Amino acid sequence: MMRTIRSFVRRAGRITMSQQAALDNLSSTYVLPEKTVIDWDSAFARSGAPRHVEIGFGMGDALCSMAQAHPERDYLGIEVHTAGVGRVLAHLHKFALHHVRVCCDDAVLVLREQLPAHSLDAVYIYFPDPWHKKRHHKRRLIQPEFIQLLATRLKPQAHLYLATDWQDYAQQMLEVLEASAEFTNLNGAGQFAPRNAERPLTKFEQRGQRLGHGVWDLVYQRLSLPPQS
Ligand SMILES: C[S@@+](CC[C@H](N)C(=O)[O-])C[C@H]1O[C@@H](n2cnc3c(N)ncnc32)[C@H](O)[C@@H]1O
Repeated sequence: MMRTIRSFVRRAGRITMSQQAALDNLSSTYVLPEKTVIDWDSAFARSGAPRHVEIGFGMGDALCSMAQAHPERDYLGIEVHTAGVGRVLAHLHKFALHHVRVCCDDAVLVLREQLPAHSLDAVYIYFPDPWHKKRHHKRRLIQPEFIQLLATRLKPQAHLYLATDWQDYAQQMLEVLEASAEFTNLNGAGQFAPRNAERPLTKFEQRGQRLGHGVWDLVYQRLSLPPQS
């Protein structure tokens, strides 16, 4: 049987009581069922809102802050780390953010099995696991096959936002996306982007800035689909 290489390891990790309570009580409101094609209008109880997805939201700082700033958009967060999901659910409930839903599964499966073709307006992938050892590079999320799959789920003109604090991963992101015929770099071929102001400055990034570590942002746009012949 073919072994699938995953971009994550499920961390046992500690879950706080409030995260566990949120998972127990709020999952039925915010978490979408696995392995089921997402009917966006019915899941969000409205239609016509732009559809934004964050992959690997971690503890959810960016997802929650973007959702708070943009009630006019629908947000779907995808994450396998249960503590982070619990934290986000508690936040959504506290701030009555009814325009956010969560999938707790491998983003590759969610994209492949749950998200309809050409349905998304924007995707964010902030600080994906760097898998810094060379023998682990095959686990990195940003690879040609993943970007190919992602492209099939984006609407024409949709935006893809990436950020990493690992220089060689930033370079890999640039190479993979520049080589893709499906995307154009909004900052010019081969260029990194200015820091996206919508991305909250997390403690982790502030610490990196203090220590003089770099962060590299990239913004790409999905090219229009070729006309049907
Ligand atoms: C280094 S953390 C960064 C989290 C967050 N984006 C941030 O900026 O703080 C990467 C996150 O991506 C999640 N992740 C990695 N691969 C994933 C996948 N295939 N599907 C869903 N989540 C994934 C991990 O569980 C982890 O929480």
